[in-house]
Amino acid sequence: MSLTKAYGERTVLDGVDLAVDRGARLVVLGLNGAGKTTLLRLLAGQEVPDAGRVVRGHGLRLGYFAQEHETLDPERTVRENLAAAAPQLTDGEVRAVLGAFLFRGDDADKPAGVLSGGEKTRLALASLVHSGANVLLLDEPTNNLDPASRDEVLAAVGTYPGAIVMVTHDEGALDALRPERVLLLPDADEDLWSAEYRELVALA
Ligand SMILES: Nc1ncnc2c1ncn2[C@@H]1O[C@H](COP(=O)(O)OP(=O)(O)OP(=O)(O)O)[C@@H](O)[C@H]1O
Ligand SMILES: [Mg+2]
Repeated sequence: MSLTKAYGERTVLDGVDLAVDRGARLVVLGLNGAGKTTLLRLLAGQEVPDAGRVVRGHGLRLGYFAQEHETLDPERTVRENLAAAAPQLTDGEVRAVLGAFLFRGDDADKPAGVLSGGEKTRLALASLVHSGANVLLLDEPTNNLDPASRDEVLAAVGTYPGAIVMVTHDEGALDALRPERVLLLPDADEDLWSAEYRELVALA
């Protein structure tokens, strides 16, 4: 660990140490540009640190929800994206999961590339939750959601049995997460969660 990452002259992360235990719930807070997405990309293996390394525990199955949805295949349909992410689901289960995430009728046959931001968010979350991952990295998963969709996504977060590392500016998402620990960027201070951090969420 002790992750460091710079883009050109600018050091975004400097010696970030973090352990994600089984079932852990961690929230990452910081202002725009503080390095939250960069940290999740490093943890997801989508970016290489300049120093330090990410040690993956035995049996780790990581699921990454990217802020810009680059994890969906835009050419494949909604149904195909979910089925590819969660191959153990039967056709009926795929239909049921899509229904639970508010995809109705013809929506399932649309290519993911044409979906709205909120629809992409729902599809990406549905895919992750059923992917068999045991650690989810969620980068602002409630952005772009209307109230009904947000409720579904927050319910999925609340009942997810594995570990979650979440970046959010949304107090409702925080309540669904029930974090045990907080990581503040860019200082990379880690602490047990306490109510006094709550006011930072909407600010950050
Ligand atoms: N590929 C890149 N090349 C150059 N600079 C980058 C790159 N990726 C990120 N940055 C810069 O690194 C800094 C941290 O970006 P990052 O996306 O991690 O911020 P963030 O905390 O997720 O912000 P937000 O709250 O807006 O999502 C920003 O200043 C950004 O411009
Ligand atoms: Mg970000």
